[in-house]
Amino acid sequence: MTELTNDLFLRACLRQDVERTPVWMMRQAGRYLPEYRATRQGAGGFLNLCKTPELACEVSIQPIDLIGVDAAIMFSDILVVPEAMGMELTFGVGEGPKFPQPIRSRADIEKLPVPDPEDELGYVMATIQLIRKELAGRVPLIGFTGSPWTLATYMVEGGGSKNYSQIKAMMYNDPEALHLLLDKLADAVAAYLNAQIANGVQAVQIFDTWGGILTTRDYREFSLTYMQKIIDKLNREHEGRRVPVILYTKGGMGWLEAIAETGCDVVGLDWSIDIDVARARIGDKVALQGNMDPTMLYANPERIRGEVKDILSRFGHGNGHVFNLGHGITPDVPVAHAKAFIQAVKEESGRYHG
Ligand code: CP3
Repeated sequence: MTELTNDLFLRACLRQDVERTPVWMMRQAGRYLPEYRATRQGAGGFLNLCKTPELACEVSIQPIDLIGVDAAIMFSDILVVPEAMGMELTFGVGEGPKFPQPIRSRADIEKLPVPDPEDELGYVMATIQLIRKELAGRVPLIGFTGSPWTLATYMVEGGGSKNYSQIKAMMYNDPEALHLLLDKLADAVAAYLNAQIANGVQAVQIFDTWGGILTTRDYREFSLTYMQKIIDKLNREHEGRRVPVILYTKGGMGWLEAIAETGCDVVGLDWSIDIDVARARIGDKVALQGNMDPTMLYANPERIRGEVKDILSRFGHGNGHVFNLGHGITPDVPVAHAKAFIQAVKEESGRYHG
């Protein structure tokens, strides 16, 4: 096992001492990088890229070399899990993901198998092993999944959605059917994350991108419960280190206390809350990840630095902050701005530590 040369991210997740605040970006491997676009082109499409470990490894490493982030995230997509459960998945150019045959009935749900991650998702495991080898301990590797609720939303809607009419109708008309789906997904995702950990990821993030469309009661019943079930099943130690769990619910800032109670190590913040307020609410229980507005990266580097300084000073002195955006970096951000953001966190955060 290679020693990590930079383990700031893992230490910050566990609220241990760091010399400066670590930083990475959600969706850091992606279209804003010309090098990513070139590799994807060569792969012949997004899903091929996900399924070719050498190329998925290459694009995972790009933001380490080009942008200087403190953690790598394995390159894949949350929707490979439903695909491994037998659902046809397409990514049309400029269209976003589509399931041409969405789940619409209890019978569809009963037919869905729980995949064996080492088999149907073996290409992800091969990618993880390659990335670990290629990183050679430079920075830790993050694995991830979608939350059961977020995956179910895509599977039932058949793709992105404006009004969530199908999933909400199912939730209110036939909650038992939806619970059956969420329970299957929780089992599938827990096994998938444990396989990622066994193959070498050093932290995991659960993306609950659509949790925020729920009412408070429905969030507890249909999203949080299943993330809790996953967390309870995870192997939290590997290679002699704790494997931190990051839970990110976009639009969930009203529910921070409940999220922190799941036993996750880190709560991901979107940009709608001031980080000092979040710290006062849950900072004694968990580390915080976030939370600059991703569209701040359209501003000039001076403005970006000003925002970084503001967020750092709001968090204040002490441990337990992983700097990130409040959601994924967008495709039309200039690379120079992404670099300036990472550089600003590195240069401005030392004064809050030690
Ligand atoms: O963070 C990373 O660098 C790792 C890669 C990663 C991707 N998707 C690659 C990707 C991660 C962590 C995801 C997660 C994901 N996928 C989420 C949760 C996070 C979030 O942003 O809320 C969701 C909802 C998806 C589903 C998905 N995949 C959508 C909605 C889209 C299309 C939207 C878009 O940005 O185009 C994708 C495609 C996708 N996943 C791309 C990338 C780099 C773009 C595909 C391309 O190269 O054309």
